[in-house]
Amino acid sequence: MARYEILGGTPLNGTITVSGAKNAAVAILPATLLVAGPCRIENVPDISDVRILLTILERMGADIQHPEENTVLIDCSGVTSTEPDAELVRKMRASYYLMGALLGRFHKAHVALPGGCNFASRPIDQHLKGFAALGADVEVTDTYVDLAPGAYDLQGGRVSLDVVSVGATVNIMIAATLLPGTTVIENAAKEPHIVDLANFLNTMGANISGAGTDTVKIRGVGALRGGTYAIIPDQIEAGTYMAAAVATGGDVLVRNVIPKHMDCITSKLEEMGAEVIDYDDAIRVRATGKLRNATVKTHPYPGFPTDMQAQICVCMALASGTSRLTESVYETRFFGYCSELESMGADIQINGKTAIITGTQKLYGATVSAHDLRAGAALVIAGLAAEGVTFVKNIHYVERGYEHLIGKLTALGAKIRRIED
Ligand code: UD1
Repeated sequence: MARYEILGGTPLNGTITVSGAKNAAVAILPATLLVAGPCRIENVPDISDVRILLTILERMGADIQHPEENTVLIDCSGVTSTEPDAELVRKMRASYYLMGALLGRFHKAHVALPGGCNFASRPIDQHLKGFAALGADVEVTDTYVDLAPGAYDLQGGRVSLDVVSVGATVNIMIAATLLPGTTVIENAAKEPHIVDLANFLNTMGANISGAGTDTVKIRGVGALRGGTYAIIPDQIEAGTYMAAAVATGGDVLVRNVIPKHMDCITSKLEEMGAEVIDYDDAIRVRATGKLRNATVKTHPYPGFPTDMQAQICVCMALASGTSRLTESVYETRFFGYCSELESMGADIQINGKTAIITGTQKLYGATVSAHDLRAGAALVIAGLAAEGVTFVKNIHYVERGYEHLIGKLTALGAKIRRIED
């Protein structure tokens, strides 16, 4: 098992370029199943979740080429299988988008329940409720979801989500794109990658409006044609490097970002004492002395993202005074990394949904384990900021979502390397 070795204590300085958004890529790639013809998808991050998805699609009969780095040419016209490889599906969370894509194209699917980061119980009842509202017959066993047409042909329907769910919003959008009639998703999630998926589908000929608001309307179209689309920059990768710059006392220009997507993260880092300057497609983040304590509560977009909870926690651990960090999306997420941070000297008390973090002068190197993707990213930041050497184990989680992490951080002056055990 590989691990990272980090010699901490060097402020990050320089320029870093953010990759394409993981959560958009893992939605757009399955959605190419709906397209009759080749799609050229640009700015695709080379991360393990994307590689797994491409292998699943290839095994189902998709023709996939990589004409250049971060560009995928994908033609799903030849796909006939409605049963993606179960072993691969279980390796990642977002494989659940194959359900919506297969339902939309073939009106049936036999898909294993997804795996991925298990930082909390992650039900998919809202996805299934959406499929049922489109007329699907939904059967769930311990290991599989089976979708088939119900008593009537599949068609557009109205779905009001009981919780704001990114996954359910995406899955229903994909499933409904080719169905006759109009689908309305109420209480929809508004994350940037939902807008990106809608833009991709509309570029290929879909008729989707309202993405980015809490009501998304999908008017079914007969077919989608091939085309070219570039994925948006990754909001969370950008936020992770911003937090790393601040935690190490550095000065970093983060390029290829959409500053508007970063607003909630930017304003918290500013509140904690960092200087943040927005440019058209870049953000400069500069530490200006000891960080100040803050109060953060995670929310669906445009609120502070739960996927940045662990990284901001490291900044809080190094700030003066006592910070409060409340999780309102995945309540058990603290357990993925707080005890690891404590072994590095952080002072964290968890009280239900809230972590009370008393800032400390220093973190110290230790051997720690990543328990999920963002927890792993936070441990890397902690290692970069800490005195001494940190080993981060279980890095396959981190590699799920961060492209060229070592190269990007090394270019900023970090002393980090990947060790193959
Ligand atoms: C997506 C992101 C993930 C992020 C999360 C929250 C992708 C591929 N992953 O995950 O990185 O952490 O959004 O921003 O985009 N829920 C239900 N029933 C459902 C679905 C969700 O109760 O059917 C609950 C969840 O338990 C959670 C909340 O709704 O409490 C939000 O989950 P959701 O937005 O669906 O997360 P994911 O799409 O899995």
